[in-house]
Amino acid sequence: MKIIMLGAPGAGKGTQAKMLSDKFSIPHISTGDIFRANIKEGTELGKKAKAYMDAGGLVPDELTVDLVIDRIGKDDCVNGYILDGFPRTLNQAHKLSEALAESGDIDCAVNVDVPDEAIIERMSGRRVCPSCGASYHIVNIPTKVEGICDRCGAEVIQRADDLPETVKKRLSVYHEQTQPLIDYYKGLGREADVDGTQSMQAVFEAIVACLEG
Ligand code: AP5
Ligand code: MG
Repeated sequence: MKIIMLGAPGAGKGTQAKMLSDKFSIPHISTGDIFRANIKEGTELGKKAKAYMDAGGLVPDELTVDLVIDRIGKDDCVNGYILDGFPRTLNQAHKLSEALAESGDIDCAVNVDVPDEAIIERMSGRRVCPSCGASYHIVNIPTKVEGICDRCGAEVIQRADDLPETVKKRLSVYHEQTQPLIDYYKGLGREADVDGTQSMQAVFEAIVACLEG
């Protein structure tokens, strides 16, 4: 099963992608996580991506498209994958469709729908574990011990791009460049809308119902 997670920054794409990856035993491929890992390791890609990410803009397609096309060609992707944060521009979507021309396009683009006001509230409260990648929210999904990751014991942090001004910029980039993908996948008859304001478990069940329905 080849799945795309669509939705605004902070809509819960990463949270749901992790749950779906466990359920269907297919890899979760997040371009944001790949870029952040490269920044942490100090690679050339990381150095280039960092400035765009910190400003709330998009990393250029030249640095993004081949990375993903290579990744989905790896052995662990033979039974499918979940793309989280890619494609994010119409050009990226067209490039992905071209790459999948022989094997068949994606099965479903899941649009996790959350209004902007709720997004801002979620992002300002998000805390992430820099060590194992777990994601929390200071009110909705708090760590058991304040500031400490439940899973691995590391200190949780706020993402650099979750500062209020950057969140506003990311939302406007989303509306301008990524939202049009909803219509692109609707046109292919492969889009499903899910109400992302429900609890994590309810969102998960709604997505699974779409995928299995
Ligand atoms: P990326 O890492 O993809 O960030 P994003 O799309 O902005 O999305 P987030 O990861 O912030 O949110 P999410 O939807 O995964 O939500 P989450 O599950 O964490 O990209 C970062 C940057 O990299 C981009 O800005 C860009 O610069 C660059 N980039 C990446 N891909 C690119 C591409 N293809 N092209 C160009 N540039 C690219 O949840 C958010 C919070 O809400 C958490 O605290 C969570 O615990 C909580 N939460 C989740 N679900 C619920 C729920 N149901 N109820 C209550 N709280 C919830
Ligand atoms: Mg994410």
